[in-house]
Amino acid sequence: MNQQIVIAVVGSGYVGLVSAACFAEMGHRVICVDNDEEKVRLLNEGGVPIHEEYLPEILSRHRGGSIEFTTELHRATSQAQVIFIAVGTPQSDTGDADLSYVDAVASEIARSIDSYKVIVEKSTVPVYTNEWITRILERNGTQKDTFDVVSNPEFLREGTGVTDFLHPNRIVIGVESERAARVMRQIYGPLTSGAYYNLPHAVPGSRSANNPPPLLKMSTKAAELTKHATNAFLAMKISFINAVANICDAAGVNVEEVAEGVGMDERIGPKFLRAGIGYGGSCFPKDVAAFRWVAEQLGQQFDLLAEVEKINSQQKKLFFRKIRSALWTLRGKNIAVLGLAFKGGTDDIRESPAIDIVNMLLKEGCCVTLYDPAAMERTKTVIPPGPQVRYASDMYEMAQDAHAVLILSDWQEFAAIDLDRLRNALRHPIVIDGRNLFDPELMLEKGFTYFSVGRPYPTTSVKALKTL
Ligand SMILES: NC(=O)c1ccc[n+]([C@@H]2O[C@H](COP(=O)([O-])OP(=O)(O)OC[C@H]3O[C@@H](n4cnc5c(N)ncnc54)[C@H](O)[C@@H]3O)[C@@H](O)[C@H]2O)c1
Repeated sequence: MNQQIVIAVVGSGYVGLVSAACFAEMGHRVICVDNDEEKVRLLNEGGVPIHEEYLPEILSRHRGGSIEFTTELHRATSQAQVIFIAVGTPQSDTGDADLSYVDAVASEIARSIDSYKVIVEKSTVPVYTNEWITRILERNGTQKDTFDVVSNPEFLREGTGVTDFLHPNRIVIGVESERAARVMRQIYGPLTSGAYYNLPHAVPGSRSANNPPPLLKMSTKAAELTKHATNAFLAMKISFINAVANICDAAGVNVEEVAEGVGMDERIGPKFLRAGIGYGGSCFPKDVAAFRWVAEQLGQQFDLLAEVEKINSQQKKLFFRKIRSALWTLRGKNIAVLGLAFKGGTDDIRESPAIDIVNMLLKEGCCVTLYDPAAMERTKTVIPPGPQVRYASDMYEMAQDAHAVLILSDWQEFAAIDLDRLRNALRHPIVIDGRNLFDPELMLEKGFTYFSVGRPYPTTSVKALKTL
């Protein structure tokens, strides 16, 4: 059987908490650390601070057993053999990643090293961060032979984080020593050997005992670059299809037909070819900017990424023009908004295009009624309820008497809405869909005036309504 390892995970956010829960699920003992006392209290009392499928079940299975939560970094790191750093690396004013949280944690870890430890970068960091962490530890008096720094980038997606973690496409480890590589192989052994998938409580997913994930060992710098290159490529795919969607809009072509035709080419693949209002979230925007900054520091021009960012920010403006051309004047209009999270399945609103669009509507003098299955509490902290802003308790209350509905996140339950009930609730049956959730023909049949992204309106008589 696989060997149990004592792991400290520093940072209990979307990545840290999911990783910690999954390590416990894989049979390790985990001490989860965060300096947010409120979050740690909530976790200790049985709460779950983020919306992630399977996370509540896994935490309740291991809480009080193989997983514990604490604010005491020193205690956790002295007990652990392996310390994962999973704190935030937000974008700084100059575009590069703000590594001050990583720096603070590394300095504190240095003070608690009394035997060999593996320190793992789980946060997304620029190339050479590994060398900086090593330098910080040495400057704080840690002996060279008492630690190794490893890069183990995380590729999970919010909303499906647990499944992605336990059924990964690949596990990347960047290591410079065989000793550290052995430890990392032991940690991921339950997945790479396939043993986890035979457990009766195993979370279901694409991997199985006969099809376990591969573990890719590479240099630490290659692992750091792999993460940035992956996110930059995915963001590029989204901007690419959005640019194609705008051409489709102008040419009266359905972008979904084009995306299907393009995506069936095995060299391209069908994923991330869905046109919409652009990417958001806590990763793509900052990682694209950080990768560009890295390239610049290394004397390389990566102008392609500037174009990716430009298309992404234009996409929101183009969508806003669609709203204006559907409604003509905006001041005083009641707009119902479906979706606030940066995508369906999560409560995360960081860099959400939906939040930007709602703010644009408020600036134009609209009144908005907002609904999201999981992100409303977080949204209230940045868009508080008031004379122009109301939060609804369900989709139909949201639509009541509105001049139009906007769809801004791709939650599955939005696609399953009762269209007749929606139409009856609205003052005017206008739907402006930024996520292409509905078939335009069906919407016409159901009596809606329906606008989406890169798909022609299903009659020829609406040319006059086209975006100016
Ligand atoms: N969110 C994602 O989908 C995702 C996916 C892959 C990689 N990443 C990367 O993982 C990292 C973490 O992202 P996240 O979304 O989990 O962030 P997050 O903001 O949700 O969580 C970070 C946590 O770290 C805690 N923290 C900060 N400083 C600390 C300290 N000194 N000691 C203890 N705890 C501290 C914060 O309180 C917070 O709970 C980032 O580098 C991100 O780019 C994120």
